[in-house]
Amino acid sequence: MNAHSQIRTSADRDIDLYRTLRARMPELAKGLSAEDLAAQSMPDCSPGKWHLAHTSWFFEAMILSQEAGYRPVDPRWQTLFNSYYEALGERVERPDRGLMTRPSLDEVLAYRREIDHRMIAWLGQGTADARARYLFTLGLNHDQQHQELFLMDVLNLMSRSPLDPRAYEAEPRAGAVEPARGGGMRFEGGLVEVGHGEAGFAFDNEGPEHRQWLEPFALDRDLVSNGDWLSFIEDGGYARPELWLSDGWATVKAEGWTAPLYWRCDEGGWSVMSLSGRGPVDPAQPVRHVSFYEADAYARWAGRRLPTEAEWEHAVRFDPDALTNAFGEVWQWTASSYAPYAGFRPTEGTASEYNGKFMANQMVLRGSSFATPEGHARVTYRNFFYPQQRWAFAGVRLASDVE
Ligand code: AVJ
Ligand code: FE
Repeated sequence: MNAHSQIRTSADRDIDLYRTLRARMPELAKGLSAEDLAAQSMPDCSPGKWHLAHTSWFFEAMILSQEAGYRPVDPRWQTLFNSYYEALGERVERPDRGLMTRPSLDEVLAYRREIDHRMIAWLGQGTADARARYLFTLGLNHDQQHQELFLMDVLNLMSRSPLDPRAYEAEPRAGAVEPARGGGMRFEGGLVEVGHGEAGFAFDNEGPEHRQWLEPFALDRDLVSNGDWLSFIEDGGYARPELWLSDGWATVKAEGWTAPLYWRCDEGGWSVMSLSGRGPVDPAQPVRHVSFYEADAYARWAGRRLPTEAEWEHAVRFDPDALTNAFGEVWQWTASSYAPYAGFRPTEGTASEYNGKFMANQMVLRGSSFATPEGHARVTYRNFFYPQQRWAFAGVRLASDVE
């Protein structure tokens, strides 16, 4: 046995990581039919087939196409699977993604395999500079984001069927829900550091690290539960305009909201649709599928408020065990609008459109959900959605001012 056979190069490690992370989405697709993977349930959602293709397209557009003499797998697919990159030309608009019955699921899976083959060859060359290495890591993190979007979109699709189909036998989840501990945590605040510094990967929107002034505040240890939410409903929460922001109340009326998304009330009481089908609402579980508007109205009803993203981040940095289910259960709405940090610079090049151009009219969510791939999120992670959107795995943690 020679010494050389034991040396694992950094290219080997990259290839292993790439293979492991890229295997996940086809795994999620396995139990679903070609029909399940082709349909689009609403303009915010994409077909599963599109997620499988788009995440492969990302590596092709951002990395492989930058190599001299590169020939795309199919040049016409650049238009089909470009999501929103203006610099990369024409694209099929999102609401029309469900109309793409061609290429077939099999062709998309073959595209995915071909991109994997080319990416592994590219990694094997070991020629990537720092910029290309960043794009490689970004591509993997992008795939992980779409793994969660895939599950959000599959659930939304299943929820539209009167058959209440279960997408999976058991809900695919990264970890176990932590039991509630009760009570709250008090923080002195002051001048604190938030945002991502130099070490390790982060999306551009997480930086730079910067100082932020916080007044003293308190944060609940636990997430708001379904039981809490039932009390809100029973107290007329969805019928009292004084609890709601104006835009929120307009949405309640326009959409006819009376409960979180996927909840239904019939003779048997409240039930909720999940990735493992329809079941009774469990009062002990954290509430899911509420919008920012609902989270905000609930907080007002409870005589509390939502935490700012800096408060959330400071609490988790200061005491990582202070909160239950900070990560891995539901994303938590914050009172912070999705805006650039002081000194924010979009990443250079084609991926500059990744995050920065969405910094208007959306709200930040912190933590991660049961559907977020293990190891993907971090304390500085900034997720974002529009305040009326509620198909994400999003819930609520309350805060308050203290003397
Ligand atoms: C951070 C989840 C809002 O859905 O557009 C996917 C993630 N960015 N492809 C989104 C994302 C590029 C993003 N969210
Ligand atoms: Fe994307």
